[in-house]
Amino acid sequence: MVDLKGKSFLKIMDFSAEELEYLIDLAAELKEKKKKGIAHRDLEGKNIVLIFEKTSTRTRCSFEVAAHDLGMQVTYLDPDGSQIGRKESIADTARVLGRMFDGIEYRGYGQDIVDELAEYAGVPVWNGLTDQSHPTQMIADMLTIREHFGKLKGIRFVYMGDARFNMGNSLMVTCAKLGMDFVACTDPRYYPESFLVDQAKKLAEKSGGSVTLTDNVAVGCRNADVIYTDIWVSMGEPEEAWAERIRALKPYQVNEKAFSYAKADAKFMHCLPSYHNLETEVGRQVYEKFGLDELEVTDQVFESDRSIVFDEAENRMHSIKAIMYATLK
Ligand code: CP
Ligand code: NVA
Repeated sequence: MVDLKGKSFLKIMDFSAEELEYLIDLAAELKEKKKKGIAHRDLEGKNIVLIFEKTSTRTRCSFEVAAHDLGMQVTYLDPDGSQIGRKESIADTARVLGRMFDGIEYRGYGQDIVDELAEYAGVPVWNGLTDQSHPTQMIADMLTIREHFGKLKGIRFVYMGDARFNMGNSLMVTCAKLGMDFVACTDPRYYPESFLVDQAKKLAEKSGGSVTLTDNVAVGCRNADVIYTDIWVSMGEPEEAWAERIRALKPYQVNEKAFSYAKADAKFMHCLPSYHNLETEVGRQVYEKFGLDELEVTDQVFESDRSIVFDEAENRMHSIKAIMYATLK
């Protein structure tokens, strides 16, 4: 029987396939309760704190709404609103917050920071994104795939673009654990780090999945069930990175050509936010400098029937609720 009470949620590698499936099932169950209007204020009286050293729309709102639905109170600490890191060490912060709160969410830079928080807090710590991983997003993504395909095992999941950052790393490990066929289809400089690829390959051998790296779009996208991408320059990376990223990753833009190799009913996924038109400040800046009006995905694909990005975004809330419930109940 899976029991995650008291456990932190720091990276996917720490969890078995059974535990991940349990969280996906729990998210589906809580989603159904919410849709049916069945109250589930099972964590009434508890308090959580959200630490965001980087910006967020989905993750912050998901934690807040999920906490309220579960009957909990929330404190939000923005990137400048606390002593963290500047006047107080992570270990001291963890020991203070652990005395006041039942759980701590952290979004920031190095994975070592969230690991250290968890080591000292004495209460569950949830990773709301670091440079290396984005584990809460994984439960939402897998729930979304299961809703659309009715299964996870055997799904051919193609990740295009920057596969060496948080999203590529986490998706590769998640797919490998859950018996899916993961393909990183990108410029070899943007493959996930080789030590992680080796670990993922071993996991895939056990689960019946596979891990493939290719720089050939026709080969990578052949028979894809899902084509996934993420922004090419992530939070915390310098603006100067755009020139090199565009040069390297433009051939791996998700467009109709990429989908022409995929299965007829293939879906498009993206963790969001996305630069698919000129309706954002960064999108317009990049356009002025490089002349591209859509980046990691074309507007045509983003707005097409294949696109399940808003189902995915909604599922962030249900899955974050499941993660908090499982670790605090
Ligand atoms: N996908 C995701 O984490 O979105 P936010 O940055 O808006 O939280
Ligand atoms: N790779 C992106 C993910 C955003 C959810 C970033 O880190 O900015």
